[in-house]
Amino acid sequence: MTSGAAAAATGAGKGRRRVGVLISGRGSNMMALAEAARAPDYPAEIALVLSNRPDAAGLGWARAQGIPAQAIDHKAYATREAFDAALDTALAEARIELVACAGFMRLMTAAFVTRWAGRMINIHPSLLPLYPGLHTYARALADGVRIAGCTVHFVVPETDAGPIIAQGAVPVLDGDTPDTLADRILAVEHQIYPHALALVASGAARLDGGRVTIAVPINHSSRLISPDPVASR
Ligand code: GRF
Repeated sequence: MTSGAAAAATGAGKGRRRVGVLISGRGSNMMALAEAARAPDYPAEIALVLSNRPDAAGLGWARAQGIPAQAIDHKAYATREAFDAALDTALAEARIELVACAGFMRLMTAAFVTRWAGRMINIHPSLLPLYPGLHTYARALADGVRIAGCTVHFVVPETDAGPIIAQGAVPVLDGDTPDTLADRILAVEHQIYPHALALVASGAARLDGGRVTIAVPINHSSRLISPDPVASR
């Protein structure tokens, strides 16, 4: 790939925030971010993909797109501090300005999180603050909720907490399994993550006293009701 073609693929260009994406596996959210960054007016470029697992499928995809991608195997580091220091070094070398965690399955030290405060975001497959942690779909189904979804938030030392930037919701259907619900939510993750990253990178979403303010119009009449009152008439 020529450097020009690589620039087009990664969305590299002037005035864009340099984003590092942290993954551990499949990397479908990272792919959604990279696809969005192809648009000439997208305010961020995916400048680096890092995985703590060398076998993460997303690494190969990123390299094939011309995106620098690197494995930093957490098993090679004796402590969380040492692993986080290696992450920090790689992010600094790539001149990363914003970090997007996308299925990154490693707990980070409070020191690392604090260093990136306000500059690191994460996607989680639930409507936080409901269902932080693992098994979000099974827990939502066990509770019988009618609406589930996903959240993009700034990262704070507490796991799956932090100021909320964007959320997306889907109906829960009778007969859903954790897998069918995960698929429905994942499709929305791929919409809200590029949207939320753009809001942060452009400065439209700002941290203000521990909350996020959004400086773009919000459609105050949009709503999701489940079961749908029109369809069930
Ligand atoms: C997504 O559901 C994300 O919300 C969660 O882990 C999953 C990662 O999927 N944190 P992918 O690697 O982005 O495909």
